[in-house]
Amino acid sequence: MATDKQMTGNLITAVGVAVIGSLQFGYNTGVINAPQKVIENFLNDTWIYRYNEPISQGTLTSLWSLSVSIFSVGGMFGSFSVGLFVNRFGRKNSMLMNNLLAFIASALMGFSKLAGSYEMLIMGRFFIGIYSGLTTGFVPMYVGEISPTNLRGALGTLHQLGIVVGILIAQIFGLESLMGNESLWPLLLGFIFIPSLVQCIAFPFCPESPRFLLINRNEENKAKSVLKKLRGTTDVSSDLQEMKEESRQMMREKKVTIPELFRSPLYRQPLLIAVVLQLSQQLSGINAIFYYSTNIFAKAGVGQPVYATIGSGIVNTAFTVVSLFVVERAGRRTLHLIGLAGMGSCAVLMTIALVLLDQQSWMSYLSIIAIFGFVAFFEIGPGPIPWFIVAELFSQGPRPSAIAVAGLSNWTANFIVGMGFQYIEMVCGPYVFIIFTVLLLIFFIFTYFKVPETKGRTFDEIALGFRQGGAGNSPEKMAPEEMNSLGADSQV
Ligand SMILES: *[C@@H]1O[C@H](CO)[C@@H](O)[C@H](O)[C@H]1NC(C)=O
Repeated sequence: MATDKQMTGNLITAVGVAVIGSLQFGYNTGVINAPQKVIENFLNDTWIYRYNEPISQGTLTSLWSLSVSIFSVGGMFGSFSVGLFVNRFGRKNSMLMNNLLAFIASALMGFSKLAGSYEMLIMGRFFIGIYSGLTTGFVPMYVGEISPTNLRGALGTLHQLGIVVGILIAQIFGLESLMGNESLWPLLLGFIFIPSLVQCIAFPFCPESPRFLLINRNEENKAKSVLKKLRGTTDVSSDLQEMKEESRQMMREKKVTIPELFRSPLYRQPLLIAVVLQLSQQLSGINAIFYYSTNIFAKAGVGQPVYATIGSGIVNTAFTVVSLFVVERAGRRTLHLIGLAGMGSCAVLMTIALVLLDQQSWMSYLSIIAIFGFVAFFEIGPGPIPWFIVAELFSQGPRPSAIAVAGLSNWTANFIVGMGFQYIEMVCGPYVFIIFTVLLLIFFIFTYFKVPETKGRTFDEIALGFRQGGAGNSPEKMAPEEMNSLGADSQV
C-alpha cells in the first residue's frame, strides 16, 4: 500500500542536501532587496570614477533594474537546459556540477567592488541566475523521484521552504549592521560559495534517483538497493511496480521533445495549465515584493523599511510551513484558489494604503498588513502549488520537456516584473498594485474552470482525466477517495 510509507533518515538527508539548491535560489532572490541604496552608491561612485560625472537617475534605475532582473534571464537559460543534464548525467551529478556556476558567480560578484566593475556584478547575477534556473528544475525532480507517493506533496513543499528560508537569511544578512553596508556588501553577494561547498561535500553520500536508475539507465538492482535505503524496508516491490508500470507506459509514449509537446493534442490541456499556473505565480507581483519591498515600504511611509522587509520574510517562512501541513489535506487546486483570492484582496488594501497615505499617516501600518497578507497568501497557493502540479501533470516521458517549458514561462514573467516594476511604478504611482489585482482575478477564473485536482492521484489517473475531457470537472465527478482506491487496485 502506498499510504504507509515512512520518512527515513536517508530520505531526509538526501532531500536536505538537495534543497541547499533551493536555499541558494531564495538567497539570491532576496539578497539585492535591502542593500539597494548601498549598491546604487557603488554604481554611482564607479560612474564618477570612470566618466568624472555623477550617474543620472535614469541610468541608475536602468543599471539597477538590470542587475536585479538579469538574474531571471540566467534563470530562463538554466531552466530550459534542465533536460540536457538530468537524463545524461543523472539528477544528483547534475546538481553537483551546477555548483561550478555558483563558484564563478560568487567570485564575480564578490570581487566586483575591488575591481571597480559593475559589469562583473551583472555577470555574476547572470551566472547565479543560470544556476537558479537549473536548480528549480533539478530539486523538485530529484525530491519527487526519491519520495514515496504519499509524501510527494509534503516533501515537494520543502523546495519552497528552502527558497523562503533563503530569502529570509538574505534579508537578515542584508541589515546594515551585518553585511548590507558600504564595505561588506561584496561579501553579502559572494557568500553563496559556502552553501555550494557544503553541498559538494555532502552530495556524494546521497543516492541517485531510483527512477533515473531504473528507467533511464535500466539498472534495476541499483534502483532496488537505493529504494531499500530510502524506504528503510526490504520490501520495495510496490515502488518498483509503480515505476515499471510507468516505464511500460513510456515504451508506448517514448521521450517527448519540446516541439512534440506543443504539437500533440494529448498534452495541450496540461501544458496550458502548467504554463498559466507558472505565470500566475510570477505575475501575481510577488517578486515586486521580494526584489523591491524595502523601497516600497519606504515610499509607504514606514519608518524602518528594512525591518518591515524582514517581517515579510518571517511571514513568508511561517506560511510556507503552514502550507507544508495543509497541502496534503486540502488539495492543490483549492489552495491555489484561496491563495489567488487572498493576494487579490491584499493588493486592493495595498492600493488603498498608498493612495490615502497623504491624508492618513496610519496608512503606513495598513501597507505593512497588506504586504504581509499578500506574502502569506502567496505561500498558501501560488508559491508552492505550480511547481509540483507540473511534475504531477506529466509522466516520465514528457516531464523534463514540460518542466523546461513551464520554467521558461516562469522566468520570463519573473524578468518582466523585475525589470519593469520600477518603471511601471514611476508611471502608475500608488495604483501600481491594481495591475496585479486584475491579473490575479484572471488567474483565479482560469484556475476555477481549467485546473484539475492532482492530489493523491498517479500520473496515469490524471492523464486519463484529460483524455476523458472536462479536466476541471473531474474532481467533482469522482471523489479523491475513489481515485485513491482505483490507484491501489491498479497496482495489485
Ligand atoms: C552620485 O554621487 C554624487 C556625489 O557623491 C551625488 O551628488 C549624486 O547625488 C549621486 N547621484 C545619485 C543618482 O545618487
